[in-house]
Amino acid sequence: MRAALTNALLGFLSVIAAAICFSCCDANSNVLCIESEREALLKLKNDLNDPSNSLSSWVETEDCCKWIGVFCNNLTGHVTRPEDDAPFTQWEAYEQSKLGGTINPSLLQLKHLTSLDLSNNSFSSIQIPEFDEVRSLQWVSGLSSLQYLDLSEVHLHKATDWLQVTFNLPNLLELHLSDCLLQDDTSPISIVNSRKSLAVLDLYLNQFSSIPMSIFSLHGLVSLNLSFNSLNGPIPDYFGNTSFLEVVDLSSNSLNSSIPNSLYSLHHLQSLSLGGNYFQGEISSAIGNLSSLIHLDLSHNKFQRRLPTSFEDLCKLKEMNLSSNEIDQDISEILRSLSRCSLDCLESLNMAKNQLSGHLTDQLGKFENLAYLSLAQNKIYG
Ligand SMILES: *[C@@H]1O[C@H](CO)[C@@H](O)[C@H](O)[C@H]1NC(C)=O
Ligand SMILES: *[C@@H]1O[C@H](CO)[C@@H](O)[C@H](O)[C@H]1NC(C)=O
Ligand SMILES: *[C@@H]1O[C@H](CO)[C@@H](O)[C@H](O)[C@H]1NC(C)=O
Ligand SMILES: *[C@@H]1O[C@H](CO)[C@@H](O)[C@H](O)[C@H]1NC(C)=O
Ligand SMILES: *[C@@H]1O[C@H](CO)[C@@H](O)[C@H](O)[C@H]1NC(C)=O
Ligand SMILES: *[C@@H]1O[C@H](CO)[C@@H](O)[C@H](O)[C@H]1NC(C)=O
Ligand SMILES: *[C@@H]1O[C@H](CO)[C@@H](O)[C@H](O)[C@H]1NC(C)=O
Repeated sequence: MRAALTNALLGFLSVIAAAICFSCCDANSNVLCIESEREALLKLKNDLNDPSNSLSSWVETEDCCKWIGVFCNNLTGHVTRPEDDAPFTQWEAYEQSKLGGTINPSLLQLKHLTSLDLSNNSFSSIQIPEFDEVRSLQWVSGLSSLQYLDLSEVHLHKATDWLQVTFNLPNLLELHLSDCLLQDDTSPISIVNSRKSLAVLDLYLNQFSSIPMSIFSLHGLVSLNLSFNSLNGPIPDYFGNTSFLEVVDLSSNSLNSSIPNSLYSLHHLQSLSLGGNYFQGEISSAIGNLSSLIHLDLSHNKFQRRLPTSFEDLCKLKEMNLSSNEIDQDISEILRSLSRCSLDCLESLNMAKNQLSGHLTDQLGKFENLAYLSLAQNKIYG
């Protein structure tokens, strides 16, 4: 429920402005929003269709820090990110109607905007007049303080400069562009996120057929989500460049190589999701290097032969899903590897629909925290 509310709030127009001037924002006074910002927000409101009147609190006389969807930091005067918990009324307001219309260029006056979330509204077009429809995201590059940008579900397939613009925002930490109809990027790019700040990149549900290579210049990347695209062919072997990755989700694509070596070198990796592809070959013994791994989903692929004994080095493994593959091995060997180190942490093990053989022994009884186990559709005998 909390997540649902958070999503709802993020879906709500949260135009979130920030940090206008230190000189006039005294930490000890009751901070009122900055005049020029308030004006910019009002202009923005004027151009929006707001049939449910969800921006009714945005009126001229009030402190804009009190407006719904605008959040100010009470100490610094910075307008900041929304709180996690949204009042129920905001959820209702959002459910009743989406915002639409055009985005007024006054948005560009919010030079210190740190967070912009326009996801899941019905802007068929974000019409910053100078830049004709969503053919370009050039206007975003003026918002150089942005740390958080979510344009999910805004159709950006015509904005061929999306990558150039967003990856180059010097302070950006999180970028969410899921379900934006994005396609492969062909433009050569010059500087990419020069401060290497981008940590969270969510490109879930787009139309990429290959992983945008520029991603491998994002040395600070912590989380990459490219699930539900059309990625096919081999997976590139450049993960050595993004060695801080903790979350990699490439599930539900058509990737068909083996797992590249560089992926096995991600020592910080906690969650690896490669399910629903055509990955093949043997899982390398280098998997033992992924010593931070907690969640491993390799289900629905064509991994073959045996699991390496180095699974015994995955001491934090909680969930392992290798269902629907072609692993051909005695189950007791697998349980022996897993019992070496993940005996106490393993909570979920799914190896259904493989070619496992052998007998079940009392080895299984030692996995005290195992809450989910499926070994269905193998060749195992009690
Ligand atoms: C987006 O809008 C749809 C329909 O209005 C809703 O079902 C969905 O939960 C919304 N998604 C988010 C992330 O708010
Ligand atoms: C600022 O807001 C937070 C959270 O709403 C609150 O806990 C804190 O007491 C406030 N601080 C001041 C100085 O008002
Ligand atoms: C990997 O990082 C190096 C050093 O920053 C860079 O020169 C190279 O282009 C990067 N490789 C890829 C594939 O992005
Ligand atoms: C992987 O997919 C690509 C493109 O879809 C195809 O050309 C290639 O033959 C496939 N390779 C293997 C080993 O299946
Ligand atoms: C990737 O994004 C999808 C959609 O938001 C989500 O369901 C999935 O859990 C994400 N993957 C990870 C590893 O967080
Ligand atoms: C795995 O770790 C070993 C020992 O640290 C190292 O020699 C090897 O190169 C690593 N393999 C990969 C694929 O990172
Ligand atoms: C394992 O993967 C299968 C296929 O992707 C999925 O249906 C199932 O829910 C997953 N099970 C667990 C326990 O993660």
